[in-house]
Amino acid sequence: MPASLCDRQSPGDTPAVKVVASRRYPGPAFDELDDVEVLPLTTLDDALPDVEGLIVANEPVPFDLLPNLRIVANFGVGYDRIDLAACAERGVVVTNTPGVLDSATADLAFALILATRRQVVEGDRFVRSGGWTGSWSEGRLAEEVTGSTLGIVGLGRIGSAVARRARGFELRVLYTQRRRVETELAEFRDLGALLAEVDAVTIHAPLTPETERLIDARRLALLRDGACLVNTARGEIVDESALVAELVSGRIRAGLDVFAHEPHVPPEVFGLPNVVLTPHLGSATRQTREAMTRLVVDNLLALEHGEPPLTPIRG
Ligand code: 8YV
Repeated sequence: MPASLCDRQSPGDTPAVKVVASRRYPGPAFDELDDVEVLPLTTLDDALPDVEGLIVANEPVPFDLLPNLRIVANFGVGYDRIDLAACAERGVVVTNTPGVLDSATADLAFALILATRRQVVEGDRFVRSGGWTGSWSEGRLAEEVTGSTLGIVGLGRIGSAVARRARGFELRVLYTQRRRVETELAEFRDLGALLAEVDAVTIHAPLTPETERLIDARRLALLRDGACLVNTARGEIVDESALVAELVSGRIRAGLDVFAHEPHVPPEVFGLPNVVLTPHLGSATRQTREAMTRLVVDNLLALEHGEPPLTPIRG
């Protein structure tokens, strides 16, 4: 992680940039901002001409109310709800938080692979319900993780972190993405071939017009019976109603951390034993969230000190 700019600058030597934050972001770095106001964006209705910095978590920027905005610091790596073209047109810099959340997100993807294939949550519910009077029914045995085949859609920073974890479980790892790369982490397949070959597939692609509904009904049908789909990226990458239909039929399993219309989760899946659900927890560890705030704040401080942003998004 980059060293804090505060370590290099004496406080008070440049005027503080006035910042609006859509909420209080976790960790001590947030308190290093001298002039920050926490204002949920839905509550903004009067223009704030003195505000130059905005902190959001992948929320649309209210440009009309912030006419003198200079920087949007996104708390997160994904920025699909931020209009980069509109920012560029207005000369507004946009930054995000790449790198610091790779491990946490890869860990959660792995947790969902394990939980889904090994029936961790179903077993937990069984014990809590008082149903454990004999042995776990032979008819509902889980699927082995060790030695199985994992497909990774998007072998970027997070996808690669998943592939490295997969080594420990002796998995055979396949990957697909637009740009084929030379790597020892995984073997390339095109998306259709990958889906047909895997025991579990995990998505680590950004949401773009090309990836929206990339995994549609036709592609879901390529998954083998009992295969498991894990999504910690963006819900919109999968056709959610087609996924729900497959899950209701019981043909496949899923571990889902993200949904097409968060916080809405299709109610049809609530009672299903073949689905594990988490509420967008990919980066939600104390260490990672604090590191994300650190990077957000360092980007704002860089602007304040006339330095280039640390992690700009080049649209
Ligand atoms: C969220 C994320 O930003 O980094 C991303 O793209 O989706 C998450 O880290 C975070 O949950 C804050 O809402």
